[in-house]
Amino acid sequence: MGNDQCPVALFTGATAGIGEAILKAYAKQHRDARIYFVGRNEASARKIIEDVREIWTDGQGGVENEGAITFIKADLTLLRNVQSVVEEVKRREGETSEHHDAPLVLTFYSRAYLTYGLLPLLRSSKTPNGARVISILAPGEEGPLYLEDLDLKDRHPTVIDWIFPEWLRRLTGLDPGYMMLRISHSVIMTTLFFEELARRERERIQEAHSTTETAPDVLGHGGGKAGVSFLHVYPGLVKTKEFERGDFPAALKFFFTWIMLPLITPIAVAAEKVGESVASMAKDKRFGLSRSAEGEQAGAAELGSDRVRGSGSYCLSWDGRRMVKDNVLEALRKKGASELLWEHLVEGFGGLDAMTVE
Ligand SMILES: NC(=O)c1ccc[n+]([C@@H]2O[C@H](COP(=O)([O-])OP(=O)(O)OC[C@H]3O[C@@H](n4cnc5c(N)ncnc54)[C@H](OP(=O)(O)O)[C@@H]3O)[C@@H](O)[C@H]2O)c1
Repeated sequence: MGNDQCPVALFTGATAGIGEAILKAYAKQHRDARIYFVGRNEASARKIIEDVREIWTDGQGGVENEGAITFIKADLTLLRNVQSVVEEVKRREGETSEHHDAPLVLTFYSRAYLTYGLLPLLRSSKTPNGARVISILAPGEEGPLYLEDLDLKDRHPTVIDWIFPEWLRRLTGLDPGYMMLRISHSVIMTTLFFEELARRERERIQEAHSTTETAPDVLGHGGGKAGVSFLHVYPGLVKTKEFERGDFPAALKFFFTWIMLPLITPIAVAAEKVGESVASMAKDKRFGLSRSAEGEQAGAAELGSDRVRGSGSYCLSWDGRRMVKDNVLEALRKKGASELLWEHLVEGFGGLDAMTVE
């Protein structure tokens, strides 16, 4: 983002864990950045602001650069708060009751609306390889998707119900089948939404090229015409406080903290390592948007989530490898899932229509 030369980045979920690690790595890599981060925990936010200032001043106390960091306090399980965040960032960057499933809003809808609402700013970015939207979730975890109930108003049967039947769910207050379904929905909707945004972005860029003779090449030359690309990233297993802090029932917290976390420790990845890698993806030209599907500029780019090189929508592991269940997505695309999702976001869910993006 950003209309001037400074890189501008907005982070959600960065007052802790993976998001915090990415934010700090980004701050190290962009010492003149304007950083916004959104969350609820003000104490953590204050500490992060101190840490970033420390990074920018090399611990010497003197101001060495023009970087700025701003915390925006908001609970992102409420879509009206997402709208306020969009307005707040737009205002600062100089551009002119809900009944939804909270975790699903947090992992998909709030990110989708933030992305959509900030598209005009992202498009005006002059960053050389194009602006980026990065959502840390779980590509590769695609499973079932109920096309007629995308926001999961109903409790659908799942395979896990065989080993976790209703009486056990009632007894423990846990519903692992529904949790898995929610992850699967968020994951697939993220990828399909990103693909649709990237498709629109390619069309917009191609149009710009056909009408402006002097337009620069899209991949690698910038000038505000490099477009926006969209990355859905799996962070690997990262030991964060997610399980202790999350709104999980006590039994599940106990299970994760005392049984699962010690078991995964040997294969877990350090949040800082994930942070460094993901922050680098924000400028890596392999994850940009190429001029056309088979365009001359596509060679340097990675294979998109739709299997088209340089398409502008990527599903990746934290270290940059392509990661997605192609067969699941392909079957859904054939059923018109992308169009249904777009309609759902614009009309059914009542959010995108409130935000105008030319
Ligand atoms: N850890 C893993 O192994 C792993 C694996 C696969 C995928 N993921 C995904 O990666 C993402 C980050 O996970 P993490 O482990 O870094 O989590 P974490 O350490 O628990 O951090 C969660 C972040 O989200 C913010 N947040 C939570 N609820 C919020 C709300 N209602 N409104 C605004 N902000 C909110 C928190 O900030 P405040 O408390 O300040 O609001 C915090 O900054 C999640 O989507 C997770 O599902 C994690």
